[in-house]
Amino acid sequence: MTTKCISSIKSFKELPTLPTWPIIGHAYLFLPGGKYKSERLSEAVEDLKEILGPIFRLRLGGTDMVITTDADHTEILFRNEGKLPSRPPFPALLHYRKEAFNSIGIVPGNGKEWYRFRSYVLPLLKKNLVQSYQAKHDAIASTFVDYIKKHRTENRTMEDLYKHLLKFSIEAISITSPGKRFHCLLENTVETEQIIKASIGFMDGLYKTFIGPPIWKLYKTNAYKQLEFSHETIYGVIKDTLEDMKHQQQKDPETLLKQNPFMYSLLNNKAMNWNDIIMVALEIFLGGLDATSATLALTLHYLAHNKKAQSRAREEVLQSQQEYKYLKACLKETLRLKPTAGANSRFLANDTVIEGFEVPSGTLVTAFSSITSTDAKYFDNPKSYVPERWLRDHRRNIHPFASLPFGYGPRMCPGRRLAEQEMITLLKNVLLNFEITSLESPEIGMIYRMNRIPDRPINIQFLDLKL
Ligand code: HEM
Repeated sequence: MTTKCISSIKSFKELPTLPTWPIIGHAYLFLPGGKYKSERLSEAVEDLKEILGPIFRLRLGGTDMVITTDADHTEILFRNEGKLPSRPPFPALLHYRKEAFNSIGIVPGNGKEWYRFRSYVLPLLKKNLVQSYQAKHDAIASTFVDYIKKHRTENRTMEDLYKHLLKFSIEAISITSPGKRFHCLLENTVETEQIIKASIGFMDGLYKTFIGPPIWKLYKTNAYKQLEFSHETIYGVIKDTLEDMKHQQQKDPETLLKQNPFMYSLLNNKAMNWNDIIMVALEIFLGGLDATSATLALTLHYLAHNKKAQSRAREEVLQSQQEYKYLKACLKETLRLKPTAGANSRFLANDTVIEGFEVPSGTLVTAFSSITSTDAKYFDNPKSYVPERWLRDHRRNIHPFASLPFGYGPRMCPGRRLAEQEMITLLKNVLLNFEITSLESPEIGMIYRMNRIPDRPINIQFLDLKL
């Protein structure tokens, strides 16, 4: 019995794969003129799934990695991620931050270095802390409603909504980190434009230094310079506020705790030096700008195309239901159809068997949740926008690892609660003020820029609502 079991397990080398080229392995698939485009990675993996099956091996950057498109495999992956989950590091970002700031932050590192920084942002996952920013989020969402009224075209359309929502996201995160409201929505200052450029440059530089060969080690490539520019710009914008916060913490810590519990938690943390505080504040400021703006733009896109869902969401807001279960379901449904993270990756902490194949400890496994989350195996009408599927009565049939837009486990997104509150508050205010419609196709794709963003401008009509 045991012998049969052991012999039925296939070796790592037997995992389905495609022929490799010398030195570059499978990178030829993504070269200019190759079969796939790196900015359409999910489509490439969908196609490879058709050819090779739900799990396969690719050799990229000199190492063999496993790609899976099955939610059971995703579960096995996360059950074997270990206590200090490791993701592919960002060597260029790590190098730059060590050189320029002598501190690395949460995103680029692994192991004990990561764990130390992660512990500094844990307060963000506390419900009470996030709720203490609610009134300020309401004020910013209300400013965005005025902003829409001011910036609509003659036929009441906001063009390229994502770009406008970036300003909302900057203003919303600024009250938490660095702790002072940046008024990006009132006037278009040079500073706002610089922050937007830095946010786009950060994600672009991160992706390009991540997927390309490490030429930045020889000279400063454009992608590396983008990382430099984004950090210098954001540091320039937040440094005075950080100094103000430090003085307030020394003079009147109680008021700081009340008004800005997150900055208080950083400034009061004896394990952090000043460089660490700068780095964490910068990372939290930049961390979720594009994901929050893209998710909001896409939710408004789907609500504009799904009038029933829009009415039901508005009804819920009008009844002032504090929990906003339906609106939360709308966000979940947007993130199921168009997750900003295309995949979740981990280096396995244990030798593991997936789909009958031996996968040794230390192997990089990438679970494409952007594919499982739209697979008919896990969701009825997988391409349709049906928020109802996330409500209590229906939810129990959903595979818990099929849609994981914020990741999973000890390394999941620490900004989740904050992002959800910012997004619900914005949607609530928009639905109370406008009927939203779209004159464009409901079809929309996503392109990779580290996080995925919509592949075309989203233009939405905001018609004044007479309640
Ligand atoms: C819709 C909004 C957002 C989405 C969909 C999102 C998604 C994600 C995902 C998928 C990860 C990787 C998790 C994993 O590997 O298990 C992540 C990590 C992270 N996110 Fe977010 N995020 C959002 C907003 C935010 C915001 C607003 C912040 C800042 C407050 C933030 C800060 C971070 C940080 C610092 C990490 C790295 C965590 C670590 O390595 O331990 N995110 N996010």
